[in-house]
Amino acid sequence: MQYPANGLRLQHRMTSMRLDKFIGNNAELSRTQIHIAIKQGLIFVNDQLVSKTNTHINNGDKIIYDGQLIEERKLRYLMLHKPAGYVCANSDSEHPTVLDLIDLPFKNELQIAGRLDLDTTGLVLLTDDGQWNHKITSPKHLHTKSYLVTTANVITENTITIFAEGLLLNGEAKHTLPAKLEILDSHLARLIICEGKYHQVKRMFAAVGNHVIALHRECIGEIDLDASLQSGQFRALTVDEINSFEK
Ligand code: URA
Repeated sequence: MQYPANGLRLQHRMTSMRLDKFIGNNAELSRTQIHIAIKQGLIFVNDQLVSKTNTHINNGDKIIYDGQLIEERKLRYLMLHKPAGYVCANSDSEHPTVLDLIDLPFKNELQIAGRLDLDTTGLVLLTDDGQWNHKITSPKHLHTKSYLVTTANVITENTITIFAEGLLLNGEAKHTLPAKLEILDSHLARLIICEGKYHQVKRMFAAVGNHVIALHRECIGEIDLDASLQSGQFRALTVDEINSFEK
């Protein structure tokens, strides 16, 4: 399926539904707040004042709350430049989460398409489209991920061959899939992998007697981290970026 345009797919495709449900789905208002708003005469459907809380609406109806048009929400696709110190989770008792960096309504509905460790920086994709998330994260689809890796010890030439051939990580039954290592400096390399095992990059370097001291994700599939995004900033993906996982 091609995604027609950024955000054009609707969140809750509607034919006929209760007005309070529609408003609750599309504006950050509780059922109680909506019922109070109806009593206060703040809600209009097709320019008619609504008086009943169980009013039903149809596709195409114009809903106004407090002078504002309420429209059906669209699915969102975002890239975030993750700083170190933020957890890739929807909530955490100890650390701030990547959602703390997203100032959008209904942000708790966003799913993280491929998590990074607390201390890892770089590209994180977020969406409320579960199917799209699955396409990126399912092990069936071998999308590449590129990381800049800074290590404690010198990166040896034979690490290139070991990673290219695949190696057995502690506690795993299968070898890692072939990975491409490009040595950029004595302690700096670019690693391209197409899997997402737990702590995979750190465990691969540990398996060859090295230690990762900094890790930064540069891209996932064909989506590169936008160089104009400062650490902590996010932006909507372009249509081409959203569709790039369809190939
Ligand atoms: N591999 C790791 O070890 N950590 C990450 O955050 C991402 C990949």
